[in-house]
Amino acid sequence: MAIPFPKLKYSLSALEPFISERTMDFHYNRHFLTYVNTANALISQTSYHDKNLRGIVSTSVGPIYNNAAQAFNHEFYFNCLIAEPPLIPSRLSEELARQFGSADAFLKSFQESAIGNFGAGWTWLAMDPVTKKMEIKNTTNAGNPLSDGLSPLLCIDVWEHAYYLDYQNRRKDYVIGFMNHIDWNFVARQFDECMSLFR
Ligand SMILES: [Fe+2]
Repeated sequence: MAIPFPKLKYSLSALEPFISERTMDFHYNRHFLTYVNTANALISQTSYHDKNLRGIVSTSVGPIYNNAAQAFNHEFYFNCLIAEPPLIPSRLSEELARQFGSADAFLKSFQESAIGNFGAGWTWLAMDPVTKKMEIKNTTNAGNPLSDGLSPLLCIDVWEHAYYLDYQNRRKDYVIGFMNHIDWNFVARQFDECMSLFR
């Protein structure tokens, strides 16, 4: 199949109490899997069937885009999370400080954007692979920075299915929990990859 359903890098209960095993089971095994299966069914008879996921997301529209982007976004989101977060690697924190004033200023802005992102969507740290400028970006529904030619570095899912069983309407508490469970080594690898492009 063109679009894989990757294994989680931690157990369904690993992020408790921030995210319960029940939420992770619904989110990973049902929501994410449905996007992957639907996207694969939609592309099976099209020219997208042998493209990789980034290629499909970057060039498709309509239902194929919606399901492929949700497959990409969810894989990325689960990779951004970890039970015991590492410190932000210095090469990344120095760049965050250069572009946002300080790493803490970036964290505050990202958190506020995610809390304020109206309705269902995603909040991203993305980077222009040509200018190397970073930006915090809110998208709605399946929206994704790849469509704008930007490289994603970090994302949070703010669809209610990501947190409603644990937090109900308290998105702020979910976002604060997320900020304390970011796998900065994964984010730094995306940063390194983007920095190496067009060099
Ligand atoms: Fe989700």
